[in-house]
Amino acid sequence: MSGAGTKLEVQDSSQRKAKLQVLLVEDNLADAELMLRELRRDGFDIATTVVQTRAEFRRRIKEEFPDIILADYNLGDWRGVEALEILHGEALDIPVIMVTGALGDVTAVECIKQGAMDYVLKDGLARLPEAIRRALREKHERSLRHQAEQDLARKVDELARSNADLEQFAYVASHDLQEPLRMVVAYTQLLSERYKGKLDENADKFLGYASEGALRMQVLIHDLLAFSRVGREDAVSGSVDCNSVMEEVLQSLASTVQESSAVVTHGALPDVWADRTQVAQVLQNLIQNAIKFRSKEALVVSVQAEKADQNWLFSVRDNGIGIAPEYAENIFVVFQRLHTRDEYPGNGMGLAICKKIVERYGGKIWVESQAGSGSTFKFTLPAHGPEERVVEQA
Ligand SMILES: Nc1ncnc2c1ncn2[C@@H]1O[C@H](COP(=O)(O)OP(=O)(O)OP(=O)(O)O)[C@@H](O)[C@H]1O
Ligand SMILES: [Mg+2]
Repeated sequence: MSGAGTKLEVQDSSQRKAKLQVLLVEDNLADAELMLRELRRDGFDIATTVVQTRAEFRRRIKEEFPDIILADYNLGDWRGVEALEILHGEALDIPVIMVTGALGDVTAVECIKQGAMDYVLKDGLARLPEAIRRALREKHERSLRHQAEQDLARKVDELARSNADLEQFAYVASHDLQEPLRMVVAYTQLLSERYKGKLDENADKFLGYASEGALRMQVLIHDLLAFSRVGREDAVSGSVDCNSVMEEVLQSLASTVQESSAVVTHGALPDVWADRTQVAQVLQNLIQNAIKFRSKEALVVSVQAEKADQNWLFSVRDNGIGIAPEYAENIFVVFQRLHTRDEYPGNGMGLAICKKIVERYGGKIWVESQAGSGSTFKFTLPAHGPEERVVEQA
């Protein structure tokens, strides 16, 4: 038995590297010879080890990590199919081809179920080379796929971690900066009030700049904190009736709408799966923008929604100043604005918050616009909660 192992084994380990390592689980040496002859005839450059017992099989697979295993089904006191179980137990991904005498359908199916890549009958060995090639190809593809999945999982992990870090940083920075800034604002204001006109003209001017700057910084930090809270606060996801949200938003914007003589209309709005306050925040920011960036024309804002697969697609259309297409993505970035604060007040935070909210629910937000011809902001929100979504997909 062990004689068989040494007889067919190629000993030169440097040679073995380049060769295809074949582990034969076979108790009939003549059969083994036939298989090898078939493979060599087909041009395979192989190094072979023959094993016969379970113990030897266990040892060899761990020592040699063969490229492929060719196993007979009937091996005296054990079965080739056990080889599959052993490989499984050792978590080794080595393709196995059963090379057997007549094999009943049931047994053949059992072998494939256990993980054999193929089975070849001993009286049809001409098929063996192609079966090996296919098994090796599939193994290669499997390992590429596995590698790609691992890379992806690692990247997703890294991204989630770096997002969480960034979020934590923005939160801590904006939260902790508030307190010292309050001191700066309070004391620059105190200085202005107490010493205005008592020092020289420049001093008054400088104090003015200082308190103005501090106040501005306070607003920026407040906005940054609001932005970083979108992901942190305990938003409650549930079914939200957008008609009633819309009414609330219009109520809170009533005076702005009136002052600008805007006409804000909306169609029947759906229920979406999100947090009520955050949906209100999105609609309010978009309508506020429409009002702020109006043109000389009488302003008309229209809010509509239509079903798009599992989502609702909202559009907020205005006939305002519009946005040149090259800025269509930029405007959703924190603090990005297209105008000076003297032209239009604001910090460039509204759309960044909208984007963060919408993406939190798996939605998208974008703008369709041309400079000078109004804008349509579109965003999607899920129609249902995750469980119902699965039901609908099924
Ligand atoms: N409806 C609109 N029409 C034209 N331009 C718009 C419209 N909405 C947004 N923009 C452009 O996108 C920029 C970013 O909008 P965003 O709401 O983020 O900031 P903001 O309104 O300037 O400031 P904030 O929202 O912080 O008060 C705006 O400064 C403006 O240039
Ligand atoms: Mg805004």
